[in-house]
Amino acid sequence: MRQAFVGRSADDLNNSRRQWEQMRRILIGALGAVFAGMAAALVVAYQGWINVAADAPHGQAVGAIIEFARERSIARRIGGIVPPPDLDSPERMRRGAGNYEAMCAECHLAPGVGNSELRRGLYPAPPKLAEAGRVALPRPEENARRFWIIKHGIKASGMPAWGAGGMSDEDIWDLTAFIAALPGMSPAQYRREVAASGGHSHGGQPAEPEGTPSGGAAEAPAHDHSTHAH
Ligand code: HEC
Repeated sequence: MRQAFVGRSADDLNNSRRQWEQMRRILIGALGAVFAGMAAALVVAYQGWINVAADAPHGQAVGAIIEFARERSIARRIGGIVPPPDLDSPERMRRGAGNYEAMCAECHLAPGVGNSELRRGLYPAPPKLAEAGRVALPRPEENARRFWIIKHGIKASGMPAWGAGGMSDEDIWDLTAFIAALPGMSPAQYRREVAASGGHSHGGQPAEPEGTPSGGAAEAPAHDHSTHAH
């Protein structure tokens, strides 16, 4: 060991100085590239070149990156979620059916329904939950993923965070149970499940009047859909 230090020649010193110089240049280059990238992103945003219109889909590459990021983000967050042992019980499914019809079917559709006015205009389009899932996972993970998505929602998509809206974990598990049984359900069976359930029965929070300090958007006053003609 000692020999190495004592025997250090001027050549060795020059060598290490050269290496350090090289590293410095690489670092400065990398930092420069990062700043150039950030500046370019700012220019693109400032110029308004990103089209935020919901009727202008992402390119294939951007779409694939967003999808990849979404699934990695969810996978990272569902580790501790354990589905309740009675998830497959008919009772849970029954309770979930009415809430699904009331709060989800307009976007995610019911068996036998091709599309809805709301869904046609949404981007990304809400997956048709009566069809096979777009992500193949083992069952417990699949249910944990659904539970997490229903509870927390998905940013910058139409999917609301129902937990933030006031839905309890138990109600969310009921919906998870119902969704797991949806693919393959006939329209007639769907209608029977909805009719047998308690209707729109989850314990959500009531609509807040305008100007509520929490900043919650006030819901429109109750309206009768039958009079909505356009
Ligand atoms: C306003 C429309 C809208 C409503 C209402 C809505 N969702 Fe969604 N939901 C979406 C959209 C859009 C996505 C896809 C988001 C994405 O791909 O980033 C989604 C995704 C999901 C997914 C993930 C599907 C998958 O396999 O990838 C589940 C599960 C889900 N919603 C359940 C529900 C449930 C349960 C309800 C009712 C309590 C509900 N959603 C209400 C729009 C909606």
